[in-house]
Amino acid sequence: MNDRYRVFFVNALSGFKAAHLVGSRSDDGRDNLAIFTSVVHIGANPPLLGLVSRPNTVPRHTLENIAATGEYTINHVSSDMIAAAHQTSARYPAETSEFEATGLTPRCGERLSAPYVAESRLTIGLEHRQTIDIEPNGTHLVIGEIVEVELDSDTINEDGWIDLAALDSVSAAGLDAYYSPQRLARFSYAKPDRPLRTLD
Ligand SMILES: Cc1cc2nc3c(=O)[nH]c(=O)nc-3n(C[C@H](O)[C@H](O)[C@H](O)COP(=O)(O)O)c2cc1C
Repeated sequence: MNDRYRVFFVNALSGFKAAHLVGSRSDDGRDNLAIFTSVVHIGANPPLLGLVSRPNTVPRHTLENIAATGEYTINHVSSDMIAAAHQTSARYPAETSEFEATGLTPRCGERLSAPYVAESRLTIGLEHRQTIDIEPNGTHLVIGEIVEVELDSDTINEDGWIDLAALDSVSAAGLDAYYSPQRLARFSYAKPDRPLRTLD
C-alpha cells in the first residue's frame, strides 16, 4: 500500500469514533484546540478518559501543553461545528490559536485554565494523570481524570444516562468523514437468565 492509501484504509477499520475537540493552554498562556477521535473510556471510578496522540517527532501542541500544565478539556462536536472542528487538524504554528483560526469561541471554566469550546453542548475538564508510551509505533496514551462536566440538563436521564443523539454529538470515520448520531435501541442490563427489555 502507498502511505496515503494505508492511512485512509487502516483509520477506517476501527469504525465510527466520537469526534472531540481537545482544548489546552501552553505554559505562556496560548490557547490550542485540535480534533481527536481516539478518546476512549478507561473507567468510571475514578472517572478516567484516555486519548491517543501521534508520535512527538514533530511538535504536538496538545501533548506538550498537557505535559506542561496538567490540564485539558474535551468538547463534543455537533453537526453545525464539523467544518470548524475539522479545520483544527491543520498544522498551525504554536503562536496561532485554532479558536481564532476557525471561529470557534473559547470559554473559561470554573476550575481549569485550559479553554472550553463555547459552541460545544457537552464539555469535560480533565487533569492529567499518566501518559503511557506505546512502544510499537511511538504514539502516546494520555490518561486524564474528569474534574468537571457541563451539558444541557434535559439531556440526562434520572439514571445518569446521557442522550448523545439529543446533544447531536457527531462521530467520524477515518480522518475526513463525519456522521450524525441515530439511536436504534437502549437495552436493560444483560443477564444470562433474564430477557432484555428496551428502555426509553
Ligand atoms: C477526524 C480526525 C481525527 C483525528 N484524531 C487524532 C487523534 O486521535 N490523535 C492525534 O494525535 N491526532 C488526531 N488527528 C490529527 C490532529 O487533529 C492534528 O495532528 C492536529 O494538528 C494536532 O494539533 P496540535 O499539534 O495543536 O495538538 C485527527 C485529525 C482528524 C481530521
